[in-house]
Amino acid sequence: MNPNRKPIIAGNWKMYKTSAEGVALVNALKAEVAGITKAEIVVCPTAISLPAINAAIAGSNIQLGSQNVHWEKEGAFTGEIAPAMLKEHGVRYTIVGHSERRQFFGETDAGVNKRAKAALANGLRPIVCVGEMLAEREAGKTEAVVAGQVRGSLAGFSKDDILATVIAYEPVWAIGTGKTASPAQAQEVHALIRRLLTELFGADVAGKVRIQYGGSVKPDNAKELLGQPDIDGALVGGASLKAADFAAIVKAAA
Ligand code: PGA
Repeated sequence: MNPNRKPIIAGNWKMYKTSAEGVALVNALKAEVAGITKAEIVVCPTAISLPAINAAIAGSNIQLGSQNVHWEKEGAFTGEIAPAMLKEHGVRYTIVGHSERRQFFGETDAGVNKRAKAALANGLRPIVCVGEMLAEREAGKTEAVVAGQVRGSLAGFSKDDILATVIAYEPVWAIGTGKTASPAQAQEVHALIRRLLTELFGADVAGKVRIQYGGSVKPDNAKELLGQPDIDGALVGGASLKAADFAAIVKAAA
């Protein structure tokens, strides 16, 4: 972490929790994180629960995020959700390009770029996910893969665009597996991403962009990961489904 960047801890609930379960979770979380201002706290429930969670977090220090967003304003895109529809229900952040979307739903850097730009054009802040697969890491391609994803996903971004964006580095082999990248492994890739941002947007801007780590972040490894100079927060899956665990990660950041 770096004092110039406010850490951001986001919980990706994926396809877990009904609305009733989500409200119970967020009510428990509210009590655990009350008064914390040194870290941004975001929860990303499944789309159908957004209105219920938005109502439950009213007046708290928890913000709402969605798990995806479409690039068009409206249209014949069955199953997709437009930016304004998310904003209507209090959404401020939106995850784009999560590895599960890339792996199981065919999302590409070009599509991620369109989704991120549409989010920004509508006042939503994208959390742009990048990360290599295990075979890519073992083949020594981590740097090339991540750099390609960053360049592709951020193509055509202005300085204002990147300043409103969060990048999440999530090595695919660490997601939901219990295998975390070591703090040094994670820091290495975060530093690479920041060097790329420096090349694209200049050092001043790159120094302000937050880069989250994701992949089996838990209360017992959060502090060490967040202690790395270029890790500015966490995107948390499994551990975000338990209020006490997620709150412990928030506290490690704050
Ligand atoms: P995990 O998921 O914390 O369960 O590994 C992280 C993510 O997919 O964002």
